Amino acid sequence: MATSMQALLVKDGQLHTGQWPTPRPGPGELLVAVKAAGINRADLLQRQGHYPPPEGASPLLGLEVAGLVQQLGEGVTDWKVGDRVFGLLPGGGYAHYALLHSQLAMRIPEELDFSQAAALPEVFLTAWQALVWLARLQAGEQVLIHAGASGVGTAAIQLARALGATPWVTASAGKHPLCRELGAGLCIDYKTEDFAERVAQESGGRGVDVILDFIGAGYWQQNLQSLALDGRLVLLAFLGGTRTETNLAPLLRKRISVFGSTLRSRPLAYQAALTKDLAAFLLPRLKSGELQPVLHRVYPWQEAASAHQEMEQNATAGKLVLAFS
Ligand SMILES: NC(=O)c1ccc[n+]([C@@H]2O[C@H](COP(=O)([O-])OP(=O)(O)OC[C@H]3O[C@@H](n4cnc5c(N)ncnc54)[C@H](OP(=O)(O)O)[C@@H]3O)[C@@H](O)[C@H]2O)c1
Repeated sequence: MATSMQALLVKDGQLHTGQWPTPRPGPGELLVAVKAAGINRADLLQRQGHYPPPEGASPLLGLEVAGLVQQLGEGVTDWKVGDRVFGLLPGGGYAHYALLHSQLAMRIPEELDFSQAAALPEVFLTAWQALVWLARLQAGEQVLIHAGASGVGTAAIQLARALGATPWVTASAGKHPLCRELGAGLCIDYKTEDFAERVAQESGGRGVDVILDFIGAGYWQQNLQSLALDGRLVLLAFLGGTRTETNLAPLLRKRISVFGSTLRSRPLAYQAALTKDLAAFLLPRLKSGELQPVLHRVYPWQEAASAHQEMEQNATAGKLVLAFS
């Protein structure tokens, strides 16, 4: 192995290509020859210096990859060199080689190529954690998914359907056809409609059982208004701000539970258990086509700056992926 590799580096908040030391796998780790890396909102924040990587993680951007196992760390027995692998990383995915912990590694179904596989881990793990582990979404329930055409939203719509629940979404109007295609029963254009009024109208005043929210402050009051009795609200991001004045009364009256979480800050054991749980549900359904990666666009890795710009402009529907050759 060469001691250095090509990677995307950050200087003054901008991405550029350069050389970086090739990582060496520690106990339990796989060195992966990266073929594709998913892009996430967190990468934009990290690039701008607002989201430092967790302690011990690579300072390079990149939270998910798909590729070929290149080298095995000590104690790894269930993988061999050349296996097709994909999974979640604490960092370091924007490079020709990356470290993936074997407990977070999943086998790529033969039906999928590397770009499709790289589009899966972060958004499906996040949506699974939110809907199943936190909100305990049940078959027959109704879930409102904000930013329905986001990477996480497109995974959440499909998972909700596959779990027997009914997904409703908010999204800008141009993205409604995709949300419908993935299984959304109702699409609300949050730019022209009050979603709480629409939810009340469509549910006969009952509200929804679960809300998956990335917007935060701007939606807080309408979210409480839109939840049914025993409703659950999962907050995963604050694209619409963190501070708001609020009427707390519905929390008690409706017995509402509120969850907040970040996937990246979870310990390895938690992420490994989540990966195992999701993989048992996801992998057979990827093979059958019931669940699918939703790719907005694949960029050559050298054009990562343009990809970041497209995400910043909210111009994507589904995932952006970088291809490495
Ligand atoms: N907590 C966690 O563990 C976790 C894990 C993964 C991701 N996240 C977060 O979840 C969010 C979604 O991630 P992603 O990668 O799926 O995002 P994405 O694919 O980039 O999609 C984000 C979409 O949200 C909509 N949006 C942006 N600002 C908005 C606003 N102020 N009000 C309403 N809608 C807005 C836009 O779609 P429209 O055109 O429909 O407006 C935009 O395309 C990000 O903030 C990300 O950081 C959190």
